[in-house]
Amino acid sequence: MSFDPARLLSPRTALADEGAIIRMAQKSRDLRAKGRDVVSLTVGEPDFDTPAFIQHAATKAMAEGFTHYSPVAGIPELRVGIAQKLETENGIPMKPEGVVLANGAKQAVANAILSLVDQGDEVILLAPYWVSYEVTARFANGSPVVLKAGIEENYKVPAARIAAALTPRSKLLVLNSPCNPTGAVWSKQELEEIADVVKSHPQLMVLADEIYEYILFDGTMHSIAALPGMAERTVTINGFSKGFAMTGWRLGYSACVEPLAKAMMRMQSTISTGANQFVQRAALAALAAPRTEVEEMRKRYQIRRDMVLKAFAGMNSVALGPIPGTFYAFPDVSHLYGRKAGIDTAEQLCDWLLEEHGVATVPGSAFGAPESIRLSFAAGETELEKALERIKAAFAKL
Ligand SMILES: Cc1ncc(COP(=O)(O)O)c(C=O)c1O
Repeated sequence: MSFDPARLLSPRTALADEGAIIRMAQKSRDLRAKGRDVVSLTVGEPDFDTPAFIQHAATKAMAEGFTHYSPVAGIPELRVGIAQKLETENGIPMKPEGVVLANGAKQAVANAILSLVDQGDEVILLAPYWVSYEVTARFANGSPVVLKAGIEENYKVPAARIAAALTPRSKLLVLNSPCNPTGAVWSKQELEEIADVVKSHPQLMVLADEIYEYILFDGTMHSIAALPGMAERTVTINGFSKGFAMTGWRLGYSACVEPLAKAMMRMQSTISTGANQFVQRAALAALAAPRTEVEEMRKRYQIRRDMVLKAFAGMNSVALGPIPGTFYAFPDVSHLYGRKAGIDTAEQLCDWLLEEHGVATVPGSAFGAPESIRLSFAAGETELEKALERIKAAFAKL
């Protein structure tokens, strides 16, 4: 028999799908390469460049020789700066020793899950959810337990349903506010109700992913770790990718109690070492400055959010929630399924939108919600307007 390396792959590799977002983004690039006019609303990536003062801080740091390995948990000044930020902006009591810089928030999520979740531990996911939580929980041999809320609940699973799902094996509850893909934002009261449920369990921790905290249009940002008794029960995840338009720089962080932070640091030390040192210097500058550019970008996302809401308000048979945060819209399009031959699923609808109407979106099944599709409005207003007109015209044909 001939040697076939493909047969040697661990079953784990089958869990790590490239993902619907990457697949749809690639399909739209392929169509563009063939000369087709395609607007892509697939990836969750700010169209803005990183603010100039942050870029300058990085080049200055490089010129000053900050090009070597970083301490694994991050440079001390940035750990101090982030602990201060969490205290002053989020009300989370935090010591610098609890902060671990990572190569993107995604790695911080992985560090947390790999450090906490063991064989058979239950990881509670609130659908619709960001897909990486589920795959990483499976990498850790954990068992995802999916609880789902629809548009009628503003995409937020009530605390009572979380309480009812808990078992002695429950280990980690994943909370993502503002939420990718729905834009839902949890109020202080909703978080208090969840915190009470969490605290009633002997071993339940919360992974609170707050990466979209600065992309907020309605309501106020609340961190569950700031609530009484929750600091020791929460790993807060955040980073620079979305709010500061620094996706390509790869810098995120986790913040939690010290023994867990040390375990996460050891995980990261094994897999990738510390985050890029001159990027951390740039992040220091980003953190220390007033949030002027962050606010300017937020305002632009709000204009786009309003464009999306207006466009969808005029569409029959499609339901869209209010989108208080993030740069995603997640309309329920399930009433359109079955109206045309070959369009019975979110995947088929997305393929049809792309191939026949030149708009790339992502099927909601990638987020545990096959009745919806996701549109990212982190695209320029002209492109967005064009895409919305195309979607409107396409849906009118169904
Ligand atoms: C909810 C959520 N968490 C984390 C991340 C990852 O962020 P980063 O680019 O910093 O790894 C993303 C990126 O899309 C996200 O949507």
